[in-house]
Amino acid sequence: MPVVKSLEDLKRLKEEALAKRMARTTTGRAQITVAMGTCGIAAGARDTMKAILEVIEQENLTGVVVTQTGCIGLCEWEPIVQVVVGDEPKVTYGKVSPERARQIMREHVQGGRVVSEFLVPG
Ligand code: FES
Repeated sequence: MPVVKSLEDLKRLKEEALAKRMARTTTGRAQITVAMGTCGIAAGARDTMKAILEVIEQENLTGVVVTQTGCIGLCEWEPIVQVVVGDEPKVTYGKVSPERARQIMREHVQGGRVVSEFLVPG
C-alpha cells in the first residue's frame, strides 16, 4: 500500500488509478450485436436487448458497446447475439432469451468464457 504524505501524492495516486482503469477498459473492450431483423423481433430480440442493457447498467460495465443489426439469415436461431471480446474471434449465440443473455453477459462478457451450449452451430 503506497504511503500518502501530501496532497501531491494523493493526486498522483488518483491519476495512476485512473490510467490503470482506462487501460483495463480498453483491453477488456467487448462488442455485442443483437440481430433485430423481422424474425429477431418476432422471436423476442427486443427483450434480449433490454436484458443486455440492464446488465450493463446494473453491473456498471464500461468498455462494452452494444449495437443492433438487421437480418443475418439465420431465422430459426433468432434471437441471435454476437459477442466479440477484445481481439478474440466473433462468437454467435442463438435462441438468446433474456435469461440466456444474462448468462452470456456474466460468463462471456464479464468472465471471458464462451458459453458453448448456446452457440449457433456453424
Ligand atoms: S428476418 Fe429471419 S432470416 Fe432474416
